[in-house]
Amino acid sequence: VTAQQSELIKNSIKSIPDYPKPGILFRDVTSLLEAPVAYATSIEMLANRFRDTGVTKVVGTEARGFLFGAPVALALGVDFVPVRKPGKLPRPTISESYELEYGTDSLEIHTDAINAGDKVLVIDDLLATGGTIEATVKLIRRLGGDVTDAAFIINLFDLGGEQRLNNLGINCYSLVN
Ligand code: PRP
Ligand code: ADE
Repeated sequence: VTAQQSELIKNSIKSIPDYPKPGILFRDVTSLLEAPVAYATSIEMLANRFRDTGVTKVVGTEARGFLFGAPVALALGVDFVPVRKPGKLPRPTISESYELEYGTDSLEIHTDAINAGDKVLVIDDLLATGGTIEATVKLIRRLGGDVTDAAFIINLFDLGGEQRLNNLGINCYSLVN
């Protein structure tokens, strides 16, 4: 990522104080979606980083992870697999609970969506505490998937998510810190 590309993406992300709770500075990627050159650049940067690395599937986490994971999967020519909030996926699922910067929830994946030996890349819009991606990685590993990398548009580096994921054997790649 060049400094210029990182700036283009950074400048398109609006910051909203005290949303959804006092003390949270919300980094709003919907403003990146409204800037097509910056949005396309973000997808291209992620796809270029992981092209020819042997990735067989991209997993994205509801909801904002879909906005980046699915276009990157298409660009790489591999499957996109959604990880969703409870009760949304129609086929048999497994589930993991996790804590969020502002609450707790659980996540589910289709049991048949990952095969043993799949090399899986996880994509989300933003890394905060890392709880969402820790739960996502556990789901993929329970199904026999090999996951060593997670990619984000934004890393809120002061919340320690990168270290938490590194401790699980996950390398983090982000476009903006
Ligand atoms: C946000 C964001 C990440 C997660 C990051 O999603 O899109 O998925 O929080 O936080 P963490 O690193 O502390 O887990 P949110 O759960 O708000 O759901 P949404 O995408 O459906 O809005
Ligand atoms: N998800 C968790 N923390 C967030 C933040 N500060 N901004 C946007 N999304 C988030």
